[in-house]
Amino acid sequence: MSWDELAEAFEAGTVDNAGFTHEKHVHVTRILAERYPRDEALAKLIAGIQGIAGRAGRPGVYHETITRAWFELIAGADDLEKHPELFDKGLLSRYYSTERLAAGRREWLGPDLHPLQLPPPAASKIDIRGVFQRVPTAVAVLAARSGHDVHATTVSSITSVSREPALVSVCLSNESHALDLVRESKTFALSVLAFDQDALAARFGDGDRPAGAAQFDGVPHHLSACGPVIDMATAWIGCGLHDMHQVGDHHLVIGEVRLAEATDRRPLVRHDGAYH
Ligand SMILES: Cc1cc2nc3c(=O)[nH]c(=O)nc-3n(C[C@H](O)[C@H](O)[C@H](O)COP(=O)(O)O)c2cc1C
Repeated sequence: MSWDELAEAFEAGTVDNAGFTHEKHVHVTRILAERYPRDEALAKLIAGIQGIAGRAGRPGVYHETITRAWFELIAGADDLEKHPELFDKGLLSRYYSTERLAAGRREWLGPDLHPLQLPPPAASKIDIRGVFQRVPTAVAVLAARSGHDVHATTVSSITSVSREPALVSVCLSNESHALDLVRESKTFALSVLAFDQDALAARFGDGDRPAGAAQFDGVPHHLSACGPVIDMATAWIGCGLHDMHQVGDHHLVIGEVRLAEATDRRPLVRHDGAYH
């Protein structure tokens, strides 16, 4: 039997108590509320529920407040699918104390705990990655050296933070080896890649690249006082570690600018998951 057929049987008084579950009650109420003006829908619901109680030989179990409170919630919902809580029989305890509900069997009593409004639908999980793919960014290689260890990683999170003093920030994953090395060396270099250096962006963002100095094999670069710098980059910035804070699954790393140089080479831009 479809929900519509059930609603027709309910109106016709041929539905019995056995098997008239809460789920059916919700759907029938919703259909009545959509088919008829409010007062008529409520009157039909009350008549139907009283009929079920009467046919079960227990007319006294009809409860005015429970019937009407459910009607208000179900009829007021914008979309049943967005409100799974309507299918929870215990929902009225959000609105009524046990005593208040017990007192409302014969006459309608409004709620004593909370107005009869459904909570807003749960927000769907935000696709933060998808949203930020639409935001164009520069692409840089952050490189650091500590003792014999050297490491570079692609980053798209660089931002100018302050002019006086000159500070830049970059966000590094908590698991990133680059973060360990920056912590140790307290210096790092950022090479802002040029439009024709997308292969380097891919290389230093590849988790399978060789470790240590081997990751620079064949990559033209030179060593600055703050760390390795990629040749022919659009700009590069040498930093001393100013501060770092763990923020969620990344560390916000703030560098104090010690060295910086820019060229007029067109920068590489990351947008919509592609390089431009
Ligand atoms: C275009 C691009 C931008 C990236 N930006 C960042 C970033 O801002 N922060 C970060 O932690 N990882 C970023 N990554 C990922 C790292 O480059 C990659 O996971 C790398 O392997 C980091 O791990 P590692 O420091 O242990 O080498 C980016 C990767 C690409 C391809």
